[in-house]
Amino acid sequence: MLTPSRVLVAPSILSASPLFFGRDIEAVEKAGADWHHVDVMDGHFVPNLTFGPPLIKELKKVSKIPLDVHIMVSNPDDVAMSYIDAGADLLVFHIEAAKDAKNLINAIRAKGVKVGVALNPATPIESVYEVAPLLDVIMLMSVNPGFGGQSFIENSVARVKALHDWLVAKQLDRKVRIEVDGGINEETGRRVVEAGASILVAGTFVYKAADQKHAINLLKTL
Ligand code: DX5
Ligand code: ZN
Repeated sequence: MLTPSRVLVAPSILSASPLFFGRDIEAVEKAGADWHHVDVMDGHFVPNLTFGPPLIKELKKVSKIPLDVHIMVSNPDDVAMSYIDAGADLLVFHIEAAKDAKNLINAIRAKGVKVGVALNPATPIESVYEVAPLLDVIMLMSVNPGFGGQSFIENSVARVKALHDWLVAKQLDRKVRIEVDGGINEETGRRVVEAGASILVAGTFVYKAADQKHAINLLKTL
């Protein structure tokens, strides 16, 4: 799933209509989405509340592409498995919230799914170095998590570049992909891809586009 070298685009269903998830996810699949990005928020780690395992289970039944499940929760060690059982293909949890990141990564991998760790904009990238060799994805947040439609935080480009340089130095760049989440559009997407990112989450830019196929293509061909 993570081998192709082109940019992968993961539209965030946070920007879909909750009353019409089935219709909306089908539309972005037809427009060329690679993965569905599913933002789980617990109202505690972030000041917003979204979906839980039951929705993911239903999405899994109808989705034709993998589910990239981003859990913004205070207790990932306790709840991660329920998202895998519900159907996550890639599970991304926050390093700031994990009690024992290494153990959690191993437990997720033992379930046969891909694993990623997310870092908030203020979290030093060094905090992921120790576990990086165990990961498929490192997700750098380019907004403070909690809501769609926020503006891209500028220093995210430098953070992507620094992380990419470190992965290259450790010969991990072909194994671990950098995913960027928040405020991605054609312009910010281009800058993070040039800096070394290869998975782009895009909520507003894709879901609110008049021509979703065009929007996804713009990002895929950066
Ligand atoms: C923010 C979420 C993002 C968000 C992206 O907490 O993790 O995935 O939905 O939405 P846009 O692309 O609108 O910033
Ligand atoms: Zn997200």
